[in-house]
Amino acid sequence: MSFLKEIQRRRTFGIISHPDAGKTTLTEKLLLFGGAIQEAGAVKNNKIKKGATSDFMEIERQRGISVATSVLAFIYKDKKINILDTPGHKDFAEDTFRTLTAVDSVIVVIDVAKGVEEQTEKLVEVCRMRKIPMIVFINKLDREGKDAFDLLDEVEQKLGLKVTPLSFPIGMGYDFKGIYNIYEKKLNLFSAENKQTVSKGIEFTDISTPELDEIIGTKPAETLREELELVSEVYPTFNKEEYLNGEIQPVFFGSALNNFGVKELLDCFIEIAPSPQPKKSEERLVDSKEEKLTGFVFKIHANMDPNHRNRLAFIKIVSGIFKRNAPYLHVRLNKKMKFSSPNAFFAEKKEIVDESYPGDIVGIQDTGNFKIGDTLTEGELLNFKGIPSFSPEHFRYVNNADPLKSKQLYKGLDQLMDEGVAQLFTLDLNGRKVIGTVGALQYEVIQYRLEHEYGAKCSYENLPVYKACWVEPEDPKNEEFKEFKRVKQRFLAKDKQGQLVFLADSAFTIQMTQSKFPSVKLHFTSEF
Ligand code: G4P
Repeated sequence: MSFLKEIQRRRTFGIISHPDAGKTTLTEKLLLFGGAIQEAGAVKNNKIKKGATSDFMEIERQRGISVATSVLAFIYKDKKINILDTPGHKDFAEDTFRTLTAVDSVIVVIDVAKGVEEQTEKLVEVCRMRKIPMIVFINKLDREGKDAFDLLDEVEQKLGLKVTPLSFPIGMGYDFKGIYNIYEKKLNLFSAENKQTVSKGIEFTDISTPELDEIIGTKPAETLREELELVSEVYPTFNKEEYLNGEIQPVFFGSALNNFGVKELLDCFIEIAPSPQPKKSEERLVDSKEEKLTGFVFKIHANMDPNHRNRLAFIKIVSGIFKRNAPYLHVRLNKKMKFSSPNAFFAEKKEIVDESYPGDIVGIQDTGNFKIGDTLTEGELLNFKGIPSFSPEHFRYVNNADPLKSKQLYKGLDQLMDEGVAQLFTLDLNGRKVIGTVGALQYEVIQYRLEHEYGAKCSYENLPVYKACWVEPEDPKNEEFKEFKRVKQRFLAKDKQGQLVFLADSAFTIQMTQSKFPSVKLHFTSEF
């Protein structure tokens, strides 16, 4: 197959949702269609158990499993589909944000009864800012839930999206009869007994025929006609260009658990979802069709075996063909490297491959050379953009609990931060180290891993910080900035890249600081 065809047949995407909306179930059903797994329940193990907020042993176990399920690839109708797994647990939201830099599109799963939830809002906001094409899947139609129109309104308002339904439910919960596929003009009837099979769908170009009444009953048929009329009046017609530009988001309804509406979603997805897209680097826009290899690290996974500090760096191929044993430039280290056993992912397996194409993910064994955001090229000095750090939500001083092991502690901290487990800040005033995380759970993970992988011990001390703000002075030499640094001296720190950060103790402090020092801008992400 030609290089161009290989690119065009790839679809690399992520599924995002609030925990429990049905991401795992949907992923599994998609894999079943691709023939990549034989039975339901295979992906399920990847989930961090509910309520396991402090059960970090469970997380350790999950880390091992999730290496295999970080990328789930399968072939469907000759398309190579790469699903990038995004952790559902909110304490790992940062991981998800980073994974979103490696996808070309996303599917957003929403629970029909719960509607738009907090985690979905945050993740969709990131996708919206990046103009990532999104398809919305409203799940659990076999249960009682919100009215379809109310839900579409909620999606528009809370998520700031412009939606257009491509399918519409007939009834809901107990009365759920099926779905009318607006995109393909087909009727799909629901049968709860028929769980793992796919209903074929009845062609139904003209919904005004009395045949519809015979099949689903007069009342539901009338309601459906009225609702579809309303849909066509209220919502814009689907336009692929607009979807690809992130300006419009098609919506599907279904029930992942019952495998209902999933095939329709997948069939539409492979047709409309983008193949690998060009990506911005600091220097230029890199097109996927360029022949020279470029790629970047978006995730680093530590090995389960604590005695071997091997890690797996996940590289998204942006352009060119990644070849086993070919020399590539690690731009940040300005070092040529060869990889003798790059892993490709297929369903839940990984295997060594000779060639990978744009859109694919390659896993590389790493002994500490890589950190998140690193770029590989054939020699060009490129740095891919777009993996910002977000302000953590929790902050603690980290203290060395075993003075004989300080070297191990700092090495461990350094490597864990490269993996993106948390963020490290060093206070300007006294050099004390502060760890910032998205969730409290990470502190336990860090402590556990420092001890088991690096032989170091640490303890924590709370620090009343509300947000880390990256500081951008209008003019680093002006008096106002000097005054800012003098007044806020105790709260200033450097992040790992050496950027200046203000650790603010409240929203009020941020507001006051901004009004007192208007020429000093404060940002909640490290990229501005
Ligand atoms: P997540 O990855 O987004 O966190 O969600 P997951 O797929 O694990 O689904 C969360 C729960 O919702 C699971 O039930 C799952 O079976 C259920 N679910 C998913 N899709 C549907 C659907 O279409 N209809 C209905 N009724 N339920 C659905 P659980 O009881 O928490 O887990 P389990 O015991 O079934 O594994």
